[in-house]
Amino acid sequence: MEKYVLITGACINTGVAMVERFAKEGINVVFTGRSIEKVHGAENEYRRKFPDVKIYGYHIDSLIDERTVDEKSVCKMFNDIDEKGIFIETVVLNAADQGLGIKSFENPLTDFMRVINTNMVWNYCISEYAAKRMKENGGGNIIFINSNTAYRAIPDRIAYSASKGGQLGMMRAMALDWGKYNIRVNAVLPGMIKTDRWEKNPEFYNNVPSRFTPIGDVAVGEDVADAVWYFAAHARNTTGAELVVDGGNTIQLYPIINN
Ligand SMILES: NC(=O)c1ccc[n+]([C@@H]2O[C@H](COP(=O)([O-])OP(=O)(O)OC[C@H]3O[C@@H](n4cnc5c(N)ncnc54)[C@H](OP(=O)(O)O)[C@@H]3O)[C@@H](O)[C@H]2O)c1
Repeated sequence: MEKYVLITGACINTGVAMVERFAKEGINVVFTGRSIEKVHGAENEYRRKFPDVKIYGYHIDSLIDERTVDEKSVCKMFNDIDEKGIFIETVVLNAADQGLGIKSFENPLTDFMRVINTNMVWNYCISEYAAKRMKENGGGNIIFINSNTAYRAIPDRIAYSASKGGQLGMMRAMALDWGKYNIRVNAVLPGMIKTDRWEKNPEFYNNVPSRFTPIGDVAVGEDVADAVWYFAAHARNTTGAELVVDGGNTIQLYPIINN
């Protein structure tokens, strides 16, 4: 069986940096996105850039509706992966519902459910399908792209913070239960990352986040990909661990503002 990494939500932003990092290291890649057009576009572009590795995209959404995770799509994707003779040795759970614009006292409860269902239940579902195969193939590793908001709250993101905090509990419990199968489970906790959202609000992003960060700048996708690669390729004896990639933001008692 050929070894692959599976990276969710990898048509845009941080997911792209991770696909490119693994491909540059010569690792074959399976990735997901929600739109068939975006997945085909990304697949063509990745194959053009990295002709020496095999790259397959799947279009898959986490949910049937806000209350219901689409387990059938996950099952179908893994069946297809099995038929291709692919073994997913590493899973990177990058896709997330950002839970933006959910206001207490205004939004319906189903908005909260949607975020928890995607960021926790769907991620558990993918992890379990992958771990079953890792168990049969001598082990593997699972890496959550979490967030420093698991520890430090930001306004109007209760569902997102709850989902990221819950992910860390889930990560440790998986690490405990699946360690005996040589499956390692770890989390990368980025602070702010430069994404396409940066260009939409340059005044805020260029001024505020970097000035409040001890190192003087926020992360780019490649910084997160480096941390993921560490867990995937080097951290043979590390499981249930968290690696913060936020330029020192969460170590502060209060932010030092550099003039
Ligand atoms: N950006 C930041 O500043 C920041 C900070 C801390 C942590 N993080 C974490 O880092 C990771 C990547 O962040 P990012 O900003 O690069 O993410 P992003 O631009 O918001 O992209 C996330 C990906 O998730 C996919 N996705 C969203 N909802 C989904 C759903 N319901 N079902 C399936 N896929 C879904 C999207 O798919 P489509 O392409 O189909 O839309 C997209 O590819 C996330 O886990 C995020 O929580 C980000």
